[in-house]
Amino acid sequence: MRRGSRRLARPIRLTRVGRVVYEMVMNPQFPLVVVMRSLAETLALGRRIGRAARPGDVVALIGELGAGKTALTKGVLAGLGGNPDDVTSPTFVLMLRHDGGRLPLFHFDAYRLAGGAELVEIGAEEGFYGKGLSVIEWADRVAGVLPENRLEMRLRVTGRTEREIALTPLGDRARALAEVLIEDS
Ligand SMILES: Nc1ncnc2c1ncn2[C@@H]1O[C@H](COP(=O)(O)OP(=O)(O)O)[C@@H](O)[C@H]1O
Ligand SMILES: [Mg+2]
Repeated sequence: MRRGSRRLARPIRLTRVGRVVYEMVMNPQFPLVVVMRSLAETLALGRRIGRAARPGDVVALIGELGAGKTALTKGVLAGLGGNPDDVTSPTFVLMLRHDGGRLPLFHFDAYRLAGGAELVEIGAEEGFYGKGLSVIEWADRVAGVLPENRLEMRLRVTGRTEREIALTPLGDRARALAEVLIEDS
């Protein structure tokens, strides 16, 4: 286990080291790219989010089918102290709430939505502005109703087990979260 956590700093490899961190602080729109070389690394990144999350934090996941959005969310629930196996693909239910961790996790899947109205109808705001952490898969489909303060994560398949994730922190809280993700541990 110890070995696992020590390895974490290396896998979260910055494509453009140093400068990026500086520019991210200066310009919240500047995307910071991290590379996950295995599913285990993506889960570890998710756990970091879960450990650092505060009530009302919002993580917007964007990326094609199989990019690793659900996998990352499993890590998030584990980091909150819940059981990662509870996270499944909520495609047919739009939202699943998990209470197993230190904060409620609201897990949304906007795959089937044409726009944001439906998300508002199912009470998404309870998650966005309440006591929990919200993770939204296919967030680009509902961008119009997402809170301004959010950490956008764009996942790209770059190899059989490699994924590139571009982080765009929007707002102070998201920036704090993004900084935790790229910190050496
Ligand atoms: N580095 C990686 N990160 C995340 N998933 C990975 C990685 N490498 C391989 N995979 C595999 O890719 C798939 C991702 O699926 P999933 O998380 O359901 O994607 P999404 O929710 O984006 O559609 C899983 O089968 C997982 O095992
Ligand atoms: Mg999914």
